[in-house]
Amino acid sequence: MRVLSGIQPTGRPHWGNYFGAIRQYIQLQDGNDGFYFVADLHALTTVRDPDTLRQNTLDTAIDLLALGLDPAKATLFVQSHVPEVSELCWLLLTGTPMGLLQRCVAYKEKVEKGLSADAGLFTYPVLQAADILAYDSQLVPVGADQVQHIEVCRDIAAKFNHQYSETFVMPNAKTLDDSAKVPGTDGEKMSKSYENTLPLFGEAKKIRKQIMRITTDSRPMEKPKEPDDDHLFMLYRLFASESEIESMAAMYRRGGFGYGEVKKALAEASEAYFHDARARRSELEGNLDYVHETLRQGALRAREVAAKVLHRAQSACGLR
Ligand code: TRP
Repeated sequence: MRVLSGIQPTGRPHWGNYFGAIRQYIQLQDGNDGFYFVADLHALTTVRDPDTLRQNTLDTAIDLLALGLDPAKATLFVQSHVPEVSELCWLLLTGTPMGLLQRCVAYKEKVEKGLSADAGLFTYPVLQAADILAYDSQLVPVGADQVQHIEVCRDIAAKFNHQYSETFVMPNAKTLDDSAKVPGTDGEKMSKSYENTLPLFGEAKKIRKQIMRITTDSRPMEKPKEPDDDHLFMLYRLFASESEIESMAAMYRRGGFGYGEVKKALAEASEAYFHDARARRSELEGNLDYVHETLRQGALRAREVAAKVLHRAQSACGLR
């Protein structure tokens, strides 16, 4: 299956991004024809500093490679390296009803908050539809918050196919399982907007300090605690083996332990878990030529597919 997903280069990935999305969509590279891209054009709607955007885009590509995205299995590229997508976006815009976009939450929320929205944010879902349709994508793994955008994409594709002729493949959303709830340092859902995140990459010592500052209740040492009610335990179970989880749970139910011990175990388990990815990341940072070449090859491959689809769409509507 042609699987496609995009990730915005808007900041450093945290544990929630990884377990809620990145890990799952990298797994789909096995047994599928995966297309993964860094959505720099989408990021333009929020990142207004050129150096930051350039650096974030490169960093995001390096993150994906470090976390196991394998260019021998999947196609990795930068969205803006495929100009066909922007061209296709215009064709789609001409057939997109205003009402369809007015119902989209990202735009609606901004307007409801009284913030001024630009046309880029308003038409963001149409660019996303172009991303998906340009590669004849069949399956689009996304978080629950993006499902509406896949629905919009399907509406736009169906409308075009109906107006002209069968041109686009109908994509399906694959909603990623976020049941592995990743709490943040304050116990709320881990999210950049709550400022409670723990990063995947960065200085181990600094991350350890952040782990040590995770909030806990004031239960006395000897008192037992139900592990499933504790966000520290929830975090630990993301990294530990079955047997480690079991013995930690037993310790909770027995009582006679402090949260400091659990935090130490969490720091060690998470360091071990991300050890290889961190090593790979620093290797890649020292070999940027390889990263750029990988992205160049990815864009070539992606353009080949997108050019065909664009041609198909142009013929269908009378531009050729
Ligand atoms: N809008 C997506 C997000 O913020 C990123 C994205 C852009 C995307 N284009 C896409 C995801 C196409 C899936 C398919 O997460």
